[in-house]
Amino acid sequence: MNIVCQCMQVDEETIVAKIKDGANTVEKIQEETSAGTGCGGCIPQLEELIEKHAK
Ligand code: FES
Repeated sequence: MNIVCQCMQVDEETIVAKIKDGANTVEKIQEETSAGTGCGGCIPQLEELIEKHAK
């Protein structure tokens, strides 16, 4: 398991599943998983994952 967001302990699989489900902005991922709502340090990684997995 690859934790992307250390603050909220959200792993990559959870985030990618949400992206594939239509969460195609950082805001939507924040709302749906809480990832990126702590220090904000993982936001660039969230953006990368969106770029890679969003349809
Ligand atoms: S690591 Fe994601 S908000 Fe801090």
